[in-house]
Amino acid sequence: MKVTFAKPGLPKAGCLAVGVLETGILTPSAQTVDEACGGALTRAIAAARFSGKAEQTLSVVAPAGVSADCIVLIGLGKAEGIDARRMESFGAAAQAAAEKARAAELTISVDAIAKTKASAAMLAAHAALGAALASYRFDLYRTRQKPEDKPSVSDLTVRLDDFAAAKTAFLPMSAVADGVGLTRDLVSEPANVLSPELFAKVAKGLEKDGVEVTVLGEKEMAKLGMGALLGVGQGSERDSQLVVLRWQGGEKDEPPVAIVGKGVCFDSGGISIKPAANMEEMKTDMSGAAVTTGLLQILARRKARVNVVGILGLVENMPSGAAQRPGDVVTSMSGQTIEVINTDAEGRLVLADALWYVQETFHPKAVIDLATLTGACVIALGSEHAGLFSNDDALAAALAAAGAEVGEPLWRLPLGEAYDKQIDSDIADMKNTGGREAGAITAAQFLQRFVREGTAWAHLDIAGVAWTKKAKGTVPKGASGFGVRLLERLIAAAYEAAPAPKAPARKARK
Ligand code: BES
Ligand code: MN
Ligand code: ZN
Repeated sequence: MKVTFAKPGLPKAGCLAVGVLETGILTPSAQTVDEACGGALTRAIAAARFSGKAEQTLSVVAPAGVSADCIVLIGLGKAEGIDARRMESFGAAAQAAAEKARAAELTISVDAIAKTKASAAMLAAHAALGAALASYRFDLYRTRQKPEDKPSVSDLTVRLDDFAAAKTAFLPMSAVADGVGLTRDLVSEPANVLSPELFAKVAKGLEKDGVEVTVLGEKEMAKLGMGALLGVGQGSERDSQLVVLRWQGGEKDEPPVAIVGKGVCFDSGGISIKPAANMEEMKTDMSGAAVTTGLLQILARRKARVNVVGILGLVENMPSGAAQRPGDVVTSMSGQTIEVINTDAEGRLVLADALWYVQETFHPKAVIDLATLTGACVIALGSEHAGLFSNDDALAAALAAAGAEVGEPLWRLPLGEAYDKQIDSDIADMKNTGGREAGAITAAQFLQRFVREGTAWAHLDIAGVAWTKKAKGTVPKGASGFGVRLLERLIAAAYEAAPAPKAPARKARK
């Protein structure tokens, strides 16, 4: 979708979206349109009992007096509540309505009416971001799509007085939309296509944005002693890969923030094979790695003043004659041994070595891992919140705040010694399952055994949120990209240096 910012005015064609405040109060731009079409909007609002509640929409098709083919009224709620998120929903609702009307062009009018701190320019940029995020589609494998099923909206124009400032504000947001798109693409790709090697190749593509990319194959990982990760991939025909993505936008010697993503390209369960029902969803078991990839693309494209290292642990978990067996004992890079009780608890095995590797190699100031780790987390939190676990209250609070800001909410769950005991093994240092009770927590306890004393660490269990069964606002049905925006905001708020001050003005000569 091409996005343009322009001065206020009525479009010649397509769909025009204007805001309506609660309860039914027309915004200035809605008033202008209403007058042009002889009060048709006022009548439509009364006839449809449209209240202007946030996210409510009402389409008025082909009204006389204006050349736009369709006017969409979108509820903005109360002026006190108009913030960035509200405007993203506004943009997303406009995009959906324009798509429904089969319009090629969408115009969104933004008025300076919010009774909040955010400027109209910033709010307009968020409306554009919302529309861009909502317009995502994965149509790569549809060869027989009828013209009427293809996406229609190709151009978005956001109109407001301060359009130049909005255009500037949108620049980093356009990087965000692209990064979320990359993550969604990766998650949507089927596993016959997206092997660990192809994933690594896609990650290599970030080099053109200035990310340093290193790929370790099985030989290199074996040399490093990554027996836990390699054990998971040993049943697959495809080679496991460990990808290191480095973005060095900060001071050279500043320790990085590390992001570690579970990248199980397909999780069949291995010898502890999963039931057939819904097994196809396990192509999404690389979502943590996909989020990490999308995030690094954004940071590089918007030249973030921060050092971040991303690690992708890429494997395929398959049953075969070469596969890992229940009862096997593997030695991780940390030296700790693991009894593999269930080969379907593979994500933690992959992360154990990825976590150790990143701490050993980069001495990060904080480590955040993302993983579609447990069904237990889905049972606990559904698809409303991702699970958050941390050994650091400040990091946990910063993550939760960033999540709330962008609509990717987290819910913190506890860690503790009693839970940790559940994964003690009779014959090795630990086992990879802790029984049915507190399954999301014991998985996190397992990961914590690979976090060094003194390292701030957080684990996000995104099993319930990486894939959505129903479109909602800025998130279409399918791959959500959950975590990308959250981490982008966290890094901006907590780790990124302020932009360099402008050179001081030269003193006037006497
Ligand atoms: N990838 C799954 C977790 C998962 C479940 C992700 C549902 C997305 C949706 C993970 O590897 C897994 O199989 N976990 C097991 C662990 C158990 C064997 C201890 C689980 O949660 O059942
Ligand atoms: Mn599994
Ligand atoms: Zn898995």
